[in-house]
Amino acid sequence: MTLKFSIIGAGNLGTRLIHALLNCPAGSSGGGSSGVRYELKYLYKKSKYGYYSSSVINDIEPLVQESDIIFISTQESKIKAAAQEAAATNPAGKIFFHTSNCLTSDELLSLKLKGAYTASFSPLQTFPGIEPGKDIELNPFKGIYFLAEGDKEALQTTMEIANDLESKVLIVDKDKKIHYHTAAVCSSNFLIAILKLAERQLHKAGEPAQPAPGIEIMFPLIRQTLENVAYRGVVESLTGPFKRKEMGIIQKHLEHLEADEAVLYKALTEFLAKD
Ligand SMILES: NC(=O)c1ccc[n+]([C@@H]2O[C@H](COP(=O)([O-])OP(=O)(O)OC[C@H]3O[C@@H](n4cnc5c(N)ncnc54)[C@H](OP(=O)(O)O)[C@@H]3O)[C@@H](O)[C@H]2O)c1
Repeated sequence: MTLKFSIIGAGNLGTRLIHALLNCPAGSSGGGSSGVRYELKYLYKKSKYGYYSSSVINDIEPLVQESDIIFISTQESKIKAAAQEAAATNPAGKIFFHTSNCLTSDELLSLKLKGAYTASFSPLQTFPGIEPGKDIELNPFKGIYFLAEGDKEALQTTMEIANDLESKVLIVDKDKKIHYHTAAVCSSNFLIAILKLAERQLHKAGEPAQPAPGIEIMFPLIRQTLENVAYRGVVESLTGPFKRKEMGIIQKHLEHLEADEAVLYKALTEFLAKD
């Protein structure tokens, strides 16, 4: 079977999704376990990085009519408008996904009301900007989880796609989805915030003539912490002065922090004390 797909919003995620679907074991040869062959039809209006630009189309009508599946991977604030634009054609029987971890399939209501099958289908992974001149990874979805909620027909397709991408699908309740997204932000964005705080402390240890080493000296510590979490769980992995109740050391740290850093440090320390 051939699944013809199109993308509205070929940016960081959309570009990688195209690349992975065309290059996964199923790919364009149909050699995957589902026996599906993925065929790219169109990219709507633009390709952020120029990939697959020969498939760019400015007309939404043929994009919808000639595709089985349409991914809307625009910024969150633009999903509803893109869905409404597609809904103004005849989308009945087509499958539409949006890829936001934060928003639900309600963003696609205009399409559902016109007889399309809709779901949110979003990867629990981070996809930064694509560096010019560098190859895109063949399958950055391998081993990850996708969150999905929506129509039964659309959810069935998420399973097949995830299987072909060697990833997993977690079907979630629409009203619980926000908790997964908050957890994802904590696990990625806030981890960056903590590492930014750590990097600032390293800078303070340097001299103009002898700059301090970079954050990479912390990589073994970060990796071991993650391994401990995987093996023992989050709470049981805590070590350090707070665990040993060495409050004098915590006070010493606070004395060497800038005001904004101390606010964050105190908040995190207090949070560690909670159950
Ligand atoms: N990147 C990640 O790590 C990640 C991870 C999980 C989920 N997601 C989700 O994936 C979605 C896309 O994220 P992203 O990081 O890939 O964003 P992005 O790089 O900004 O890509 C979005 C692209 O969509 C284009 N676009 C916006 N409205 C459009 C329309 N009506 N028709 C055609 N193209 C349109 C944008 O162009 P303009 O800039 O001109 O508007 C931009 O090129 C978001 O909903 C996000 O929550 C992202």
